[in-house]
Amino acid sequence: MSVLITGGCGYIGSHMVWELHDSGESVVVIDNLSTGFDWVLPKDVPLVVGDIGDQALVGQVIRDHGVNAIIHFAGSIVVPDSVTDPLGYYFNNTVKSRGLIEEAVSAGVNSFIFSSTAAVYGIPDTDSPIAEDMPLQPISPYGSSKLMTEIMLRDAAFAYPDFNYTALRYFNVAGADPKGRAGQSTPRATHLIKVANQTALGDRSHMDVFGTDYNTPDGTCVRDYIHVSDLAKAHALALARLRDGGDSLVANCGYGHGYSVLQVLEAVKRASGVDFAVNYVDRRAGDPPSLVANSERAGSVLGWEPSHADLDLIVETALSWERMLLQKHT
Ligand code: UFG
Repeated sequence: MSVLITGGCGYIGSHMVWELHDSGESVVVIDNLSTGFDWVLPKDVPLVVGDIGDQALVGQVIRDHGVNAIIHFAGSIVVPDSVTDPLGYYFNNTVKSRGLIEEAVSAGVNSFIFSSTAAVYGIPDTDSPIAEDMPLQPISPYGSSKLMTEIMLRDAAFAYPDFNYTALRYFNVAGADPKGRAGQSTPRATHLIKVANQTALGDRSHMDVFGTDYNTPDGTCVRDYIHVSDLAKAHALALARLRDGGDSLVANCGYGHGYSVLQVLEAVKRASGVDFAVNYVDRRAGDPPSLVANSERAGSVLGWEPSHADLDLIVETALSWERMLLQKHT
């Protein structure tokens, strides 16, 4: 029996593949390689290059590999792109997820784990850590496309009692595999830690800090940065729980501790030893001032105990990966 990982060649998906591979699980990956890379996978993990929107292909893979669980990462993730191309995002993230869920249900694959996001909360009405029962009010098509998939999963689990899912709402995922086997490789990345590391290594001439006038301790936005390996562990725990007959669950994944943009930049300067220059510019549209997770549910229900909750470790592992990428491309 195998676990099907969609988007397994992408940033978080590839860490998940390694996590399950390390624990001796049989895994099969579907990825269309639109943003992922096949070289990141363990050599003995089968990769089917194709699109999850191809339902016949998905059904074939489920049958051929005896798939009994699906972890679904494949999708588009750039928030501003979703604003300019909403229909593309609803197609890729929502319509294709619907087809995947349908294939799972019809093939009797009853354990489904979905990669959701803090973007489902939009701009929270509070600066306190956000719990799962806070209002769901996404402000981008990206957030809406993910929320719509959560809703489909909820309704499918209601209609088909054998089908159970876990949706994990990620806060700011960062860092790389401490063993250096996987990391964030996406070109034209916009995420803070990757951009800052690239600037420190001279791969970018400069970087911007978007907004210094927020109502936060130092005026810059606060985020809950979570190490990608801890996130992969949360999925592994969710998988074990579903296999043990656990019911459907939605859970946040974050550390419950926020860092400002300036604090992150200090950590990157510490790790790299480079005091790179930054430009202070206007706010970026759609940035909530503060997003910090209340992840008590992941702790109590999944037994999730993060072991990489350290901003310096997050930055150092991401920096090592960035150095490797630079060498690879020169
Ligand atoms: N930032 C900068 N300069 C940069 C990049 C980012 O100042 O070059 C700031 C942003 O303005 C923001 C913070 O750093 O205040 C974090 O920005 P990221 O782009 O790294 O991450 P986001 O918080 O925007 O995005 C995250 C997830 C998304 C999710 C979103 C929900 O990565 O998948 O939270 O709000 F949708």
